[in-house]
Amino acid sequence: MNSANSPSTPQAVHRILDEASGLDGVIVLHSTRLGPAAGGCRLWHYKDVASAAHDAMRLAEGMAYKNALADLPLGGGKAVLRVPEGRFDRQRLFAAFGRAVENLGGAYVTAEDVGTSVADMQTVSQHSSHVAGLEPKGGRPGGDPSPWTALGVLLSMREVARRRYGTSLSGLTIAVQGLGNVGSHLCALLHKDGARLVVADTRADFAAHIAARFGARVVSPDEIVTVPCDIFAPCALGGVVHERLVPLLKTKIVCGAANNVLATEEDGDRLAERDVLFAPDYVVNAGGIINVAAEYLGWSAQEAEERVLQTGARLAEVLDYAERRSMPVHRAANALARDRMAGHGLQPAMAGAV
Ligand code: NAI
Repeated sequence: MNSANSPSTPQAVHRILDEASGLDGVIVLHSTRLGPAAGGCRLWHYKDVASAAHDAMRLAEGMAYKNALADLPLGGGKAVLRVPEGRFDRQRLFAAFGRAVENLGGAYVTAEDVGTSVADMQTVSQHSSHVAGLEPKGGRPGGDPSPWTALGVLLSMREVARRRYGTSLSGLTIAVQGLGNVGSHLCALLHKDGARLVVADTRADFAAHIAARFGARVVSPDEIVTVPCDIFAPCALGGVVHERLVPLLKTKIVCGAANNVLATEEDGDRLAERDVLFAPDYVVNAGGIINVAAEYLGWSAQEAEERVLQTGARLAEVLDYAERRSMPVHRAANALARDRMAGHGLQPAMAGAV
């Protein structure tokens, strides 16, 4: 991406407004060159629709890059809705959102994201077929994508450990920040691989529980970011790696699931200058979207798994591209994603901007 704060121009921005239900937001199609623009629906507090649109543009661009590098036949998009003031009827809101999604005729495919749930997507599904993240049916892909995301992170770690240290993960010290859905699955996989775990979560009881299960050492959320380790794995929030943190890091690899690990693109350059290998989060954490894509596109569970198992190979491709061009890895990932998108025919813009 250009920078965390300045998304490039999307293909289309659709304003969605329905006073009766309180629906107020945007659907951004960053690109539909590779297929329908897929990306979740966020419901969050924004002071006005312009701030919601700015966030949606940034997130939609990220989804376009993630989907392109995951070799999915999908473009990138995002819906961002403002939380209505006062009490509101959730079902009515998501019914209106579902109609808005349906009006785009399949150009946008939605799923849950921050502030939305499987139940909300079930409501959407009564008004549109362009939705994923529903309850899985009959062994088909769907449901909680976190185990798949964690598996992709593990495979990525194996790849970067091999390149940087010439070893497997066995005996390496890995610091996991955030032990939620992805972080806890990841700890289980790393434990099996023989890694030594250092963990932190703002929920201290949860950190203690994970530590007991996997023989991990618990440190505080403040300490985890600078603890000496072979791999630092951010699996909590975005923006963890920032200008002030980079000089304090005591690791040679950053590889984790959190979306937008870098506060800015320049922080990725700072990591490279310090010879810290950064595995771009949107390459590493694509297991989740692969699972969502499989659900929407009707792939079998086996096909979904085979694609997630390619995560290490896809990261290797990005690392090779960076090496060949002597570029920092995060910039190489963006360039490769743009190459992929440019390799397909242009489509006309679909709607006006906000
Ligand atoms: P989650 O909400 O289940 O877990 C996050 C955990 O981080 C929570 O346990 C929370 O207490 C902890 N936490 C928050 N701030 C912290 C801090 N400062 N220090 C230590 N711990 C902290 O979220 P989930 O699903 O595990 O996702 C983790 C990250 O991975 C998020 O950034 C998410 O956007 C990203 N991601 C998740 C995917 C998935 O399949 N769930 C797919 C792709 C990306």
